[in-house]
Amino acid sequence: MLKLRTIVIKCGGSVLDDLSTEFFSGIHALIQEGFHPVIVHGGGPAINAMLTVHNIPSKFHKGMRVTCEKTMEVVEMVLSGQTNRQLVHLLDINRLQAFGLNGSDGKCLQAELIEEKELGLVGQINRVNISAIYMLLDQGYIPVITPVAVTEDGRKVNVNADYAAASIASALQSERCVFVTNVDGVIINGTIAKQLSVGEIQGLIESGDISGGMIPKVDSSVSAVNQGLEKVMIVSGKASFYSKGSWQGTTILQEEEISK
Ligand SMILES: Nc1ncnc2c1ncn2[C@@H]1O[C@H](COP(=O)(O)OP(=O)(O)OP(=O)(O)O)[C@@H](O)[C@H]1O
Ligand SMILES: [Mg+2]
Repeated sequence: MLKLRTIVIKCGGSVLDDLSTEFFSGIHALIQEGFHPVIVHGGGPAINAMLTVHNIPSKFHKGMRVTCEKTMEVVEMVLSGQTNRQLVHLLDINRLQAFGLNGSDGKCLQAELIEEKELGLVGQINRVNISAIYMLLDQGYIPVITPVAVTEDGRKVNVNADYAAASIASALQSERCVFVTNVDGVIINGTIAKQLSVGEIQGLIESGDISGGMIPKVDSSVSAVNQGLEKVMIVSGKASFYSKGSWQGTTILQEEEISK
């Protein structure tokens, strides 16, 4: 299998209804530069709305959704049947050939439970079968992956989409990983941080400057940077994140690479 230059783009459920024309132009620009995008999506707001319809409360622990069996059914139904469909369609009407892939198809995403007592059916990925992803890339499609994984004993589990993106980037040996969300980057003391070093992240979580859904995003960014990815960013999907070689948002990088 010839290695392709891939860029993993995690598209937050938080911004799915607000993706800008510039977001899609950014993807076109990256393709023109020779990158093969692989998209992983979340679906927080749509899952919350459907859980409310079914009278199931939404509970979070360390930024991750506590997932009982009933919740898991709703998670898969919404992510696979609604959010993935919406994003594939949006890419299609923006002239980007996309193909939806549920993480459990072809055992693409394999996982083990994290802390069943605290979180229920929430997994962390321990293996990515990249053949299905490559099959789509080879045919010129952008894979749009739903972060539902399967355990060794065949249980479907919910994987936070940020962590899934970092694991997929690692398995593909991607050069870049971009977390697209509903804010312009990581906000510290009221302003967007242009750069954050991996060493300062933990302190910012402990101080409460980084909280909720931003925790899995910065955690995943740290593991992506530590795996040697060339560029790891947290950006907004509402505006332009990439144009003519210039990036907007927060870059996560090693201490020694911070420019003063
Ligand atoms: N320091 C911070 N800077 C910016 N946003 C932060 C910070 N701390 C917490 N947040 C929250 O993190 C949210 C983004 O994470 P969230 O999980 O809600 O969205 P997402 O990951 O894009 O969507 P989904 O989880 O549906 O895929 C922001 O909207 C904001 O409320
Ligand atoms: Mg999130």
